[in-house]
Amino acid sequence: MTGQKIDGIAVATSVKERVRAAVKELQNAGITPCLATVLVGDDAASATYVKNKQKACADIGIATKDHKLPVTFSQKEMNSLIDLLNKDDTVHGILVQLPLPSQLDEFATTSRISPLKDVDGLTPYNIGLLTSARAILKPCTPSGIMELFEYYKIDLEGKNAVIINRSNLVGKPLYNLMLEKNSTVTTCHSRTRNLKEHCQIADIIITAIGDRKKFLLTEDMVKDGVVVIDVGTARLEGKLVGDVDYENIIKKASYVTPVPGGVGPMTIAMLLKNTVTAASISKEFVQHN
Ligand code: GUN
Repeated sequence: MTGQKIDGIAVATSVKERVRAAVKELQNAGITPCLATVLVGDDAASATYVKNKQKACADIGIATKDHKLPVTFSQKEMNSLIDLLNKDDTVHGILVQLPLPSQLDEFATTSRISPLKDVDGLTPYNIGLLTSARAILKPCTPSGIMELFEYYKIDLEGKNAVIINRSNLVGKPLYNLMLEKNSTVTTCHSRTRNLKEHCQIADIIITAIGDRKKFLLTEDMVKDGVVVIDVGTARLEGKLVGDVDYENIIKKASYVTPVPGGVGPMTIAMLLKNTVTAASISKEFVQHN
């Protein structure tokens, strides 16, 4: 059996077309959706991610406000910046690119963002809604993965899902979203003792490690017909690679995401969707309050 490649670029394009239409509607109502990006320091990968997000916004008519801060930016300065962006009625979404330099507290920073502008879904309020299956603004990578399952009609009900990641951005929110769809979800991490055994009984594997020295999913670790979602990104001999031995796994799997061209484009598409959702929420707020 040879599996099907999940085409993240195609699915992201279809999401973006829907978002583009929603942007037009908002513009007709006098609102230009706007995303404020906050990038601290000079990490090249983070700078590229932010640039790609800004470009994707521009492509579909979302405005951006760019905040590039020095690596020495303090928590006090960060708090003031977020307070300003929270109060700015022309800003609908706030994205603070992670990770942050060590003097900045990630939790203190993300939890200061207004839940109504929290396009990463990382504030305690939105995390609480997510765990109660009530979230409107959900973290972009996990909701992008859910969109891929839906597009390819991959049924999650009763399936054994193994998530190899426990971060706030990926593993924890994805756990909740897949549980909501009635999967039996196992979260694996660096202290998991029998990772290979967990993988071998999984119907669906989502891996987000991004370091091939630590982890590579190979064909002996998966069962026939498995669905594999690869969120890992790393550089190997100048090439972008994921956590999965794609060429060999696809011979055994039913579906696999490639790297690049799998989950990455979905993360950006869902950020655009969240920004437009946040702009729509702001409109409701103006009308009803
Ligand atoms: N760093 C890596 N992925 C993300 C993301 O989805 N959002 C933010 N804010 N930072 C990231």
